[in-house]
Amino acid sequence: MKTFYYEETDSTNIRARELAREGQPHGTLIVADAQTEGRGRQGRTWQSPAGGSIYMSVILRPEIPASKACMLTLVAALSTAEAIKECTGIDAGIKWPNDLVINGKKVVGILTEMSAGTDKIDYVVIGVGINVNVEGFSVELKKTATSLKIETGLSFDRKTLIRAVMKRLEHNYKIFTETLNLKNLQEKYNSLLINKDRQVKILCGPRSYEAYALGINQKGELLVRKEDNTVEAIYAGEVSVRGLYGYV
Ligand code: BTN
Repeated sequence: MKTFYYEETDSTNIRARELAREGQPHGTLIVADAQTEGRGRQGRTWQSPAGGSIYMSVILRPEIPASKACMLTLVAALSTAEAIKECTGIDAGIKWPNDLVINGKKVVGILTEMSAGTDKIDYVVIGVGINVNVEGFSVELKKTATSLKIETGLSFDRKTLIRAVMKRLEHNYKIFTETLNLKNLQEKYNSLLINKDRQVKILCGPRSYEAYALGINQKGELLVRKEDNTVEAIYAGEVSVRGLYGYV
């Protein structure tokens, strides 16, 4: 596996995209100790100081239709949760589709970006940010963010964790590409899904409604039972799901 390490960079996702454009192969890993332009989903920033966190991005070159690529982000969430369990013993839950949460607070964020033609994927970049040995957050963040250290009082070796994420990702990626759906990962994913069997609020542009989350289907969509008892499949790109109380 080819690895690029930066003490500081703008964003490992930006580096990864550039390296992918230069032809770096499937499986290339980009890691930084600090990011000056860490990026989150929906145009948000991801605060990325040095020393305590993992900022990593992986270049994938899947030979799958572009329409299936959104499932990779769920594969990454599951893989990261499994790696955290293996290395620390901590049970992180998944907030659909791809945040990892401990005690109601976010510990991992994932940003997946793709470059594709009409249907053929050139590359996918999966960026994972893990709050590992962070001892505290800013006033705005601390209501919703946590770290492995805050939760346990212990420090963890970031290299070991990065290796475990890569190993799990490789394993689960293989399972995914065999079927091109989440059939063989769905059960594990649902067992970690904190939204499952809970009332959620679906935010869809200006519209919002409450429903009961049942778990993901084979396409990674969240199945929810609505008040009229019909079941709807929610597609990750189009809505955001909240618990009824606070972040989760
Ligand atoms: C989110 O908004 O939840 C996604 C956050 C993703 C952060 C990671 S850190 C490594 C990679 N590089 C980035 O700039 N973003 C992702």
